[in-house]
Formats: sequence, C-alpha cells, structure tokens
Amino acid sequence: MTTFWDFHSAGRLIYGPGLIRHWAQHRPSAHSKTCLIITDSHLVEAGLVDRVLDGMDQEARKQVHVFDEGEAEPSIQTAFRAAACAQAIEPGTIIGLGGGSNMDLAKITGLVYSHGGHPSDYFGFDRVPGPICPIVAIPTTAGTGSEVSHAAVLSDQDSGVKVSTLSPHLRPTLALVDPELTHSCPPQVTAESGMDALTHAIEAYTARIPEASPENGFQDAPYPGKNPLSDALAQKAISLVSRHLLTAFHQPANAEARNGMALAGTLAGLAFSNGAVALVHALEYPMGMDVHCSHGRGNALLLPHVMRFNMPYRMTEMADIAQFMGLKGPSTTPVKAAETAIEHIESLNQSLFLPRRIRDLGGSSQDLPRWAEKAFQIKRLMDINPRTPTQEDLLDILKAAL
Ligand SMILES: NC(=O)c1ccc[n+]([C@@H]2O[C@H](COP(=O)([O-])OP(=O)(O)OC[C@H]3O[C@@H](n4cnc5c(N)ncnc54)[C@H](O)[C@@H]3O)[C@@H](O)[C@H]2O)c1
Ligand SMILES: [Zn+2]
Repeated sequence: MTTFWDFHSAGRLIYGPGLIRHWAQHRPSAHSKTCLIITDSHLVEAGLVDRVLDGMDQEARKQVHVFDEGEAEPSIQTAFRAAACAQAIEPGTIIGLGGGSNMDLAKITGLVYSHGGHPSDYFGFDRVPGPICPIVAIPTTAGTGSEVSHAAVLSDQDSGVKVSTLSPHLRPTLALVDPELTHSCPPQVTAESGMDALTHAIEAYTARIPEASPENGFQDAPYPGKNPLSDALAQKAISLVSRHLLTAFHQPANAEARNGMALAGTLAGLAFSNGAVALVHALEYPMGMDVHCSHGRGNALLLPHVMRFNMPYRMTEMADIAQFMGLKGPSTTPVKAAETAIEHIESLNQSLFLPRRIRDLGGSSQDLPRWAEKAFQIKRLMDINPRTPTQEDLLDILKAAL
C-alpha cells in the first residue's frame, strides 16, 4: 500500500434526514444574495424546489432564480444556456438540485459564469484557472457522489462521447445530503444511481496504487489511485449498497434504506474522487451515448464483465468485496469469494430489473469496435485500471457483454 496520499471533499459536507428544512443557516457567504437554482422540470413537479425555498426566509426567497431546463445526462448546449442564464442574473451562489446531471450542470454553469468562455474550454483535467462561484450541491438521487467530487460530465452530441471536466475547483463549497429528498426517486432511478454508487466503490477499491510523492505533488493526476482512506470509504459504501439498495427499490418510503443509500452514494463519491473510477466508466461513456441509456444503467451492465477481466490482478480485493457484501464464508478460497461477489452483482442487477446484455439496450456487434476505440482513448481511465488493457481486450469485454 502507498505511503503518500492526500484527500479532498466538498468545502463542507453535511448529512441528515430533514436537513433541507434548515439548510439556509449553512449557506456559504457570497458577494451577492442572488441565488440561482439549477434543476429540471421533474424536480419542480415533485415539489423539491419548493422544499429548498421553504428552507429560506421570505427576503432570501425573493432573490432566487430557477433554471429548470436541466436534463438527464446534460448536453454541452444545455450547459451553455445555463451559463448564459447565470451571466444574466449574476448570482452569488449556484445551487445544483437533483441527481448527478443537475449537480454537474451547476458546476459547469458556475465555471463558465466565473471564468468565461465555453464549457469545452475546460474539458479534461486541471484546466480550470481558479476558484469558481460558490456551489451548493443538493443530491436528490443516491449514487453519483457529484456533491463531493471534482468532476462534471456532459454529453457531447457531436463527438458521441461523454466528456469530463475534472478540477479541484469543481468540488462544491457545500454538499447538503438529505436522504428525505430521495424518497420521491422513481424505482428505476433508485436502481440505476445505486448501481453507479456500487461501481464507484468497487472501481475505487480495485484501482491501482498511486505513485504520489511529496516531490511530484498530490494533484497531478485526475484519479490518483486507491489509498487507505478511499478503501475505508469504499468498503462502507459496498456494505451499505448491499444492505439497502433492494429495499430502497421495493419500498421507496423506507427511511432506513434511503438513509443508507444516500450515505453510500456520498461515501462512494469521496472514495472514487480521491481514488479512481476506471474501465467500467471508460466503456460506459461511448456506449451510453450511443444507446441512450443512463450512466448507472450502463455501468451496472458492464461492472461484472470488467470485474472478470480485472480479477486475476485483484483477487484479494475482490474476495474482500465478497466479505463487505456479507457473502464470504470462513473457508472460502479467494477465487471462489471473488466469483461469488461477481455473481452477486449479476443477481442484484436481475432483481433490480436492469438489463443483462448490451443487445437488451439496443446495441449490436457492429457498435463494439467503435466503443472499444473511443474508450481506449480515455487515457486517464485506462492508466488507473489495475490491469492495463489493449484495445482488443476492451473489444473482448464488450463481446462478452453483448
Ligand atoms: N460528477 C460526478 O462525479 C459524477 C459521477 C457519476 C455520474 N455523474 C453523472 O451523473 C448523471 C447521472 O445522475 P443520476 O444517476 O443521479 O440521475 P439524473 O440526475 O440523470 O436523474 C435521472 C432522472 O431522475 C429524476 N430525479 C432525480 N431525483 C429525483 C427525485 N428525488 N424525485 C423524482 N425524480 C428524480 C431526474 O429529474 C431525472 O429525470 C450522468 O450524467 C453521469 O455522467 C457524475
Ligand atoms: Zn459513475
């Protein structure tokens, strides 16, 4: 295990059921009281914007603007429109209210509002020149961890891939995690975002060990690799998902399950954004764009296949994962335990009615070489995967999932 590592989160992270009723006490100070909420029409309809407004006094409420044109897997064009809205109203704070899609949109909005230009000027790692307008991230799904992460993902319709902007300046000023806001999450979104959290935790736990040192600095890679703290967080997140996801799926109002899943999503977000995501994410980006499936749905399908590919290089870690899931008996060998973990994920997908094969998503064998090629170009994710893949390996993984 590595000797040197560092760790980052949102400027402040608060968690608790019902927090939203008092959230304004924790509002970060800003140059202006004007506030822009970035959200989407479903969440307006679900009454979640009202719950944010109810937590503010009357005077503060008058200075709130709502951009409700957010969308799942937001496009660059939508980000550009949201940024234009911010430039017009000049908010002191931007609130990202929603799942990963709206929180990411809020980050990019704050970035372009603060530094000008176009979202594409900042794609990639560490291209944000300095701090951005204070961002309050309020998740309404339990999964992405965007509320604490340094990442924001947009869909690029022209190139057909999802593009990430990664920078320490994208970690929100305040992450406010209130599990009650996830109670209205439809079962499919609960399942998909929950499997995204599990993917984050597993990719973080099985990632490479970093080569950070005091000499080369700690911030010189978008994903530094696993460390003891990211491992501890990933372990807890894996246990929580195993314990609570199916209950949250079947019983949306089950507070204990929702509390556990909200915690799992945030812990997994801390784990991956200080550790790594890897091959599952690299393959999902082009596949998800082409077949128009959600990020979590694509990850859930690919996760067991990538684990099988990585297994010879991460046998011990995968046996640990079986244990975190409560599956490993005392006399089980590491190989058997690792296989049990993978089979458990497959049966979890089935119980959540998630598709098992790429063809169930509408993909075909002709698509696979293109996805393998695009995924292979995402160097930061190839480099941090425990087993270095060739483009042929990626194609084989996709063929196995077809
Ligand atoms: N920045 C990061 O670190 C990071 C990490 C992982 C994923 N992501 C990104 O996050 C996005 C996926 O986010 P997601 O899985 O949270 O889903 P989402 O934000 O795309 O939301 C999916 C749908 O569920 C609805 N919804 C969300 N919460 C609801 C609630 N409480 N009640 C009713 N409806 C609700 C939304 O309106 C939307 O229509 C992808 O774009 C992915 O790339 C970002
Ligand atoms: Zn993810």
